[in-house]
Amino acid sequence: MSYRVVMIGAGGISRNHLDAIRQLGPERLTAVAVADPDGVRGRDVAAQYGLAYYPSYQEMIVQEKPDIAIIALPHHLHEECAVFCAAKGCHLLLEKPMANSSASCDAILAAVREAGVALMVGHTQHYLPANRQAKALIESGRLGKLVAIHDTRHKAYFEEERPRWFLEKEKAGGGILMNLGAHSIDKIQWLTGRRVTKVKAVLSYEAPIGNVEGSGVVLAETEGGIGAVIVQSGYAGVAKDETELIFTGGMARLVSRQGLWISSGGEYEPVEGDDAQGAESPFASQLYDLLDAIEHRSEPECSGEYAKSVIAVLEAVYRSQATGVEQVVD
Ligand SMILES: NC(=O)c1ccc[n+]([C@@H]2O[C@H](COP(=O)([O-])OP(=O)(O)OC[C@H]3O[C@@H](n4cnc5c(N)ncnc54)[C@H](O)[C@@H]3O)[C@@H](O)[C@H]2O)c1
Repeated sequence: MSYRVVMIGAGGISRNHLDAIRQLGPERLTAVAVADPDGVRGRDVAAQYGLAYYPSYQEMIVQEKPDIAIIALPHHLHEECAVFCAAKGCHLLLEKPMANSSASCDAILAAVREAGVALMVGHTQHYLPANRQAKALIESGRLGKLVAIHDTRHKAYFEEERPRWFLEKEKAGGGILMNLGAHSIDKIQWLTGRRVTKVKAVLSYEAPIGNVEGSGVVLAETEGGIGAVIVQSGYAGVAKDETELIFTGGMARLVSRQGLWISSGGEYEPVEGDDAQGAESPFASQLYDLLDAIEHRSEPECSGEYAKSVIAVLEAVYRSQATGVEQVVD
């Protein structure tokens, strides 16, 4: 069966989704329309991909009656848009982070349940080949027991090109931790197969613009007592996205878009990848998972329930910064 898809939001990530739809091909998915109140951006994407353009996503959903809506909006709009689209009977691919609060996640989950549609949240980390290799390594027990994780992410966050809403707490829900920390928390939970239960966070608010944090250090503990440290900075510096996994019998270095290295003592050695794995974009892989969930009426790997757990950890991070003490994740 082939499904009709609409794109809500014609911003930075919309082209990744539309390219992925092309990768799957018209026998599975066809993008039909895009909505964005920014007419320049919306029309530009519409022209590039041969789509109808709507300034209003509500009008687009009513007119086009799509099977699937992909929602790639500023975070504060995720709830209202997901609830609207679910009520109109659309299956949803909702960008991460799921919403700005657990309460918003609950509202989305209730709407999805009521409508009987599928919901997948776009935690693309699950589909990066090196990440999958790291998960297989952990599960194999080859390096013994995993005891600690050190995850570092640095990315200039306050550059001119960044859409302004990312720097407004009321819209983005937070700064680099809400946006990229969501990936780190997801990575830790998914790689280990365990939920984060406690956090202690120290954030800084030193950026010249906006009112969100510019850096953060989070000490997290998972179920079963794996310790994880997340260090992120959005200030000027060297871009980095690296995760070190520390086992009782060795270590692994994961650079998500580059590869995986392991050591059983001594220097790191590269782990050979499966080239076929790398050929498909993570955005295409997640669409296959969504179609599987729709057709088998099953929960996708990145279900709404799972994605809500990432938001609960982020809420605990901001509570820890506000109170100065460790927080249990609700
Ligand atoms: N999975 C990933 O790796 C990844 C990467 C980048 C962004 N994201 C996520 O994707 C989402 C969008 O991020 P982005 O970088 O594309 O942001 P963006 O600011 O570039 O794009 C958002 C777009 O939404 C539009 N918009 C605002 N209100 C709207 C409305 N009512 N109806 C329709 N469109 C509206 C804006 O005009 C803008 O074009 C966020 O949740 C972000 O965290 C995920």
